[in-house]
Amino acid sequence: MEVYKKVTLVGAGPGDVDLITVKGLKAIQTADIILYDALVNTELLKEAKADAVLVNVGKRFNRRKYSQEEIHQLLVDAANNYTTIVRLKGGDSFVFGRGAEEISFLENCGIDVEIIPGVSSALAAPSNQGIPLTKRGVNESFWVVTGTTSNGEISKDLSLAAQSTATIIILMGMRNLSKIATEILQYKSGFTPFAIIQNATMADEKIFIDSLSNYKNSIELIDYSAPGIIVIGDVVAEHPSYLEEEIQRALGVTF
Ligand SMILES: C[S@@+](CC[C@H](N)C(=O)[O-])C[C@H]1O[C@@H](n2cnc3c(N)ncnc32)[C@H](O)[C@@H]1O
Repeated sequence: MEVYKKVTLVGAGPGDVDLITVKGLKAIQTADIILYDALVNTELLKEAKADAVLVNVGKRFNRRKYSQEEIHQLLVDAANNYTTIVRLKGGDSFVFGRGAEEISFLENCGIDVEIIPGVSSALAAPSNQGIPLTKRGVNESFWVVTGTTSNGEISKDLSLAAQSTATIIILMGMRNLSKIATEILQYKSGFTPFAIIQNATMADEKIFIDSLSNYKNSIELIDYSAPGIIVIGDVVAEHPSYLEEEIQRALGVTF
């Protein structure tokens, strides 16, 4: 008789342990094995059973651990050897999370996948800072764009988004800030506000806000060891500190 095999793909949320879904938390609490990514808050793993096997398959810049192919194989091995398997990913598995690739591979191996959505950093980071992604009369959409494509370049979608009213939310863009700002400045005014939010929803969350024409000032403030997103668009002016900083800038006070 063929044994039924299943992997549960869980979005862990943006960082704050309280921002995982109730369903995601229940999956962690009942798992026999959890394979988790680098951006998952490891505090969540304290919820696992005492005898659960915890495997860090995380990949961070310059600290590659497992290739995507190796992760696929680890998942298949887990499905063959354990009953309850959780694949835990940062944010939501389907937002630049390679969730679709893992599902295809597992299904091709005859393994079912249950998906538990997560709160993506793309939405949580601006929201946690009081920056609305849409505001009536200001913009009509938001785009979530990668700041680094598979060939290391910026996405062509950036210039399309820059020609619309959209709020542009850029993931994986910290190292390409200069290229991104140069591209967007071809279409948008230098006065357009932007924010960089790092370690969003964590105790050490940081934000810096400026106008696009001043983007070079932000480069030296970036902590490249921490995850960060860039938010570009007029909605950033809704941030509580924006008006105050604008007044300081107009008065010529340097930070
Ligand atoms: C590979 S993508 C995964 C995104 C994830 N699936 C999600 O929905 O949030 C990793 C990127 O997400 C962003 N990111 C994830 N967590 C973050 C956080 N707590 N604060 C800021 N940016 C974050 C960063 O841009 C990081 O480089």
